[in-house]
Amino acid sequence: MKKHLNSIPPAKGKLGVLLPGMGAVTSTFIAGLELVKKGLGRPIGSLTQLQTIRLGKRYENRNPLIKDFVPLAAPSDLVFGGWDLFPDNMWEAALKAGVLERHQLTPVRRELEAIAPMTPVFDPSYLRNLKSDRAKRGPSKWDLARQVVADIEAFKRKSGVERAVMLWCGSTEILPKPSPCHESARAFEEGLRRNDPAIPPSMIYAYAAISLGMPYGNGAPNLSGDVPAMVELARRTGAPIAGKDFKTGQTLMKTTIAPMLKARMLGLTGWYSTNILGNRDGEVLDDPGSFKTKEKSKMSVLDSILDPGLYPELYGRYHHKVRIDYYPPRGDAKEGWDNIDIRGWLDMPMQIKINFLCRDSILAAPIVLDLVLFLDLAKRAGLKGIQEWLSFYFKSPQCREDLKPEHDIFIQHLKLKNTLRLLMGEEVLDHSGLDYYDLERGAVALAPAPRPVKSAARKKPIASSRP
Ligand SMILES: NC(=O)c1ccc[n+]([C@@H]2O[C@H](COP(=O)([O-])OP(=O)(O)OC[C@H]3O[C@@H](n4cnc5c(N)ncnc54)[C@H](O)[C@@H]3O)[C@@H](O)[C@H]2O)c1
Repeated sequence: MKKHLNSIPPAKGKLGVLLPGMGAVTSTFIAGLELVKKGLGRPIGSLTQLQTIRLGKRYENRNPLIKDFVPLAAPSDLVFGGWDLFPDNMWEAALKAGVLERHQLTPVRRELEAIAPMTPVFDPSYLRNLKSDRAKRGPSKWDLARQVVADIEAFKRKSGVERAVMLWCGSTEILPKPSPCHESARAFEEGLRRNDPAIPPSMIYAYAAISLGMPYGNGAPNLSGDVPAMVELARRTGAPIAGKDFKTGQTLMKTTIAPMLKARMLGLTGWYSTNILGNRDGEVLDDPGSFKTKEKSKMSVLDSILDPGLYPELYGRYHHKVRIDYYPPRGDAKEGWDNIDIRGWLDMPMQIKINFLCRDSILAAPIVLDLVLFLDLAKRAGLKGIQEWLSFYFKSPQCREDLKPEHDIFIQHLKLKNTLRLLMGEEVLDHSGLDYYDLERGAVALAPAPRPVKSAARKKPIASSRP
């Protein structure tokens, strides 16, 4: 059994949650959490609040809730702050986003009105479809980064939080051109000083947080923390980082169905995905530059799961198309259609159709909560740099440069839970184990040493092939 060497300090005191971008996702997350705190809503979709984790063998019947197993901050200890291009407080932002109805929000109106966004870092060349006259001013991007650092420090002082996490919930930016300033922390800082155009606002926020050793997560497909400069800085300052792009609607479906196709060796000839959505995010993605960033993030998942290199006959020539259409009447209630052309025995064609009537921010809010709590846990556990075990939450998971990202949601889920087991000194589960089977003589060398079996477990049949 591998054990984590350090014991994790408890989550004492308040935890600051700093969110650049306070639109639909952020306001739904904060409003939802305030409602949960008052017992007026349930945190459905959140692993940290609802899921259990199996420990040891099945017959041990040890299945604590994740929140009772690892030392997480409690939702009642979270304190919120952030930045936005619009001056709306969280009550106004939530009403405008239209995800939750006014009557649902009213019980937490006072809490929402108390949260107003700080002045943002804004650069219209990275976001064409939104306008703002609120923006930090300064002679250089370095100066803007110092202003964000000052905001963070002022927020911590005023709110009295012990620790803080930053999670980008802002719009999808146009991707910057690759630049030498992304390659090392030193080059990046020089780039900030000489206003390198390849540094978008999201990177300035990421730099501010990471330079303070704060955990940083990224819910959009923006590069922000996903360049060698930020990874190097995070390792140096001890900041855990994770991204990119919350895995919510269509990609959640894709990374669930594709592993099934591959597991059953069913071929794929085409996957056509289209969406309509009418919220501000949809308006931003209506710009070809921002859409390109999102498309890149959405397109990468199939190849990575299906591995056409290993299975050229089944997955070597499939057609993959992704569309997002801005359609205002829908607001946040996105609708996605997938048409999947597959092939079975003797190449016979079949089709799968998915029509997902989802609510974007309702799916994203629990991800925000889990990421905040897990990133804070990672920091207290002494984990730094890229947190690949949080890939479960992302469309475009960040991982070490020499590795391939893991997109299969089931592997991601196993990895997440095994990381929690490791952190707490519990046995990692790989769902193998020959100790469930009667072995022929000669195979005994493969079997692990017999384990003591509790009396309750002895009564159970042991014929199941699922460990
Ligand atoms: N299910 C989902 O909702 C989902 C899934 C995956 C990714 N995302 C991503 O999460 C992000 C937030 O989604 P949303 O629906 O809340 O969008 P939204 O448009 O409602 O909110 C984004 C907010 O970010 C603000 N913003 C933009 N640039 C900023 C800057 N430089 N500084 C501070 N604020 C800035 C905008 O003013 C806006 O209010 C988007 O990038 C979206 O693509 C959302």
